[in-house]
Amino acid sequence: MSYDVERIRALYPALQGNRVWLDGAAGTQSPTSVIEAIADTYRSGTSNGGGAFASSRAADEITAAARSAVADLVGASEPNGVVLGPNMTTLTFRFAQALAREWRVGDNVVVSELDHDANVRPWVQWAEASGVDVRWARVDVESGELPADQYSDLVDDRTRVVAVTGASNVLGTRPDVRAITDAAHAVGALAYVDGVHSTAHGVVDVSDLGSDVYVTSAYKWDGPHVGCLIADPVLLEQIVPFKLASSSNDVPDRFEWGTPSYANFAGVTAAVDHLAALDSVAAGSRRERLVTSLVAAHEHETVLLDQMLAALGADGRITLYGHPKSRTATVYFRVEGESPGHTAQRLADADINAWHGHNYAYEVTRALGIRDSGSAVRVSLAHYSNAADVARFVGAV
Ligand SMILES: Cc1ncc(COP(=O)(O)O)c(C=O)c1O
Repeated sequence: MSYDVERIRALYPALQGNRVWLDGAAGTQSPTSVIEAIADTYRSGTSNGGGAFASSRAADEITAAARSAVADLVGASEPNGVVLGPNMTTLTFRFAQALAREWRVGDNVVVSELDHDANVRPWVQWAEASGVDVRWARVDVESGELPADQYSDLVDDRTRVVAVTGASNVLGTRPDVRAITDAAHAVGALAYVDGVHSTAHGVVDVSDLGSDVYVTSAYKWDGPHVGCLIADPVLLEQIVPFKLASSSNDVPDRFEWGTPSYANFAGVTAAVDHLAALDSVAAGSRRERLVTSLVAAHEHETVLLDQMLAALGADGRITLYGHPKSRTATVYFRVEGESPGHTAQRLADADINAWHGHNYAYEVTRALGIRDSGSAVRVSLAHYSNAADVARFVGAV
């Protein structure tokens, strides 16, 4: 068996106890290779990049390696289009700020109810600050889908940005991103795709998605807390961010503020290398190995998801939110007669990690009518989850 989940689990120190980790959508665990890559950077001596001496050149090499790794992960051809930063939220606020410098009164931006607030509020707040209209793509609350056909009515020649998620971090819904980016491009708008939840759950190809900008966060795919923004460097050359006068004006460096976490960048590369080796027979270039491994991981997660949905769906006391056609292995539910916080506490008492509340899916929980009453419980499977995790969870619910 080339996808051997028990072989994979053995690589993670945090998975060696009795705990069931169903909180991957909030943050995944790291294998020893990632932990060691970070520790090794400190052990061997760290310096800031840009200098003539060896440890400074090493910092520049670590940064370049992380950019290449992230480019491979998302199928981008240009490592110089990879901006690294503290997290997706910070990168998105900065990017919105930079784009807003060119927005004019009467322009508009399109956001969606399905998105995590980090791909909503930066656009809404910079739109408000710039006198720009905000248009909302609505969720079908029954199915949890984000119908793509509404976008042709939402965009026009004054649309500057269409921001949409690659997958919902609570319902798991994978919208038809390509149809939405096509609608954005038909009017000359920039398509900004939040891949923070989707990246861990399958193969990403930014060309297939049609994203002008794709954002992801390494701590959702076994890495450290580093945000990644991926775009064509030609596009980045056209965008002028606020920055220090003294810092580099080169792309992508000019989008990166202050001194970065070089040690964490080493962890990003190790995480991508780890993902590329999930399937033990994966061969070829790192990109090819990533594709093989992530296809296998997706199949593995889908089997577990189907088991989980079948068990929960068979119990009339459980309400499942959303049943999208294409989804990640993430489930949002409530137990009859029990608050989501109470359910999460019962699970915690059984050593099962599960999140409750809106999980920053702020608009979709409002649209579902559950935000003010505690929203729901979220469990999310990862490539290291196994059938025993699902069985323990189902039993405890
Ligand atoms: C779908 C989605 N988008 C954005 C974010 C924000 O990412 P970050 O924590 O890197 O700012 C999250 C975090 O949970 C997320 O799940």
